[in-house]
This record gives sequence, C-alpha cells and structure tokens, in this order.
Amino acid sequence: MHVLQTLPLLALTATLALSAALLPTIHVGTIQTCGTNKYGPDYIAWLDDQSPCDGTDLGIVNSYRGHGLCDLTAPIPDHPELMFSGCAERVQPFGQAGLPSGVMENGNQVMECHEAGGQETACPSPCGQGQTVMAASNVTCSPIQRY
Ligand SMILES: *[C@@H]1O[C@H](CO)[C@@H](O)[C@H](O)[C@H]1NC(C)=O
Repeated sequence: MHVLQTLPLLALTATLALSAALLPTIHVGTIQTCGTNKYGPDYIAWLDDQSPCDGTDLGIVNSYRGHGLCDLTAPIPDHPELMFSGCAERVQPFGQAGLPSGVMENGNQVMECHEAGGQETACPSPCGQGQTVMAASNVTCSPIQRY
C-alpha cells in the first residue's frame, strides 16, 4: 500500500481506538421510589466505580416512550452524543419497552449491553427516615473493543 493511502487509515484507526478506550462501562437498572414519585420503579444508570444509589435517575420504567431508554441520551460524562439503542418497542397499551442492547454515538455502535443478572443493592430511600429502596442491575454496557 502507498504511504499516502496508509496514513489516513492509521489516523482513523487511532481515533476509533481512542474514543472506544475513553468510554466507561455503565450499568443500567431500576430503583424503587417512594412518596410523591410512587409510580416507579425508575430506570437508573451508574458508572462502574459508582454505587447504583448514586446513579442518574432516568424516569419511570413504565413510561409512554415507544422505545423506552432508547428515546433518551445515555448519561455518560463527556459524551453528550451517546444514545441507548436496540430497545424492543413498547407493546400497546400497557406494555413496557425493552432494555437497551447497545449504545450508539453519531450512528455508530460504540458499546454493547449484556444481561447483568438482577443483583440488588439497598439504597437510602428518597423519603428518608432511615428507610431503604432496592436498586437492581439489569444490563451492563461496555465499550466495543475494535482492535
Ligand atoms: C430488572 O431486574 C429486576 C431484578 O431482577 C427485575 O425485577 C426487573 O423486571 C428488570 N427490569 C426490566 C425492565 O427488565
């Protein structure tokens, strides 16, 4: 291959490998709610080095969004373009959309989600008074290793 053809390919390879490496592993699950927000559970997303209790609340699981979490951006710091992908469409009228199978960035799949097994963690209840709510882990999404 000519040098002029090789160099842009190397630059592209380095860019893709770098962006994949900078993506964290995230977990997506559900957390019980209480009090005024009694229609939970809510979806939560948290980073690998975080407790689910400190995760980002993504709103109720039983929402009217046609593709659930896939209609939302994935809350990953420094990556505002990430969208959940692969959620099964909500079954009308009372069904829920499925969990994501991946994460896309600008049309490219950059993360893959796998079932996480439902491990539960007790978190302080938003209602306080020493009560707890349970958080469950549903899927773990990891950067795709391309190279
Ligand atoms: C998430 O996992 C919990 C615990 O296993 C389970 O009860 C719940 O149905 C799962 N949620 C979804 C949307 O699959």
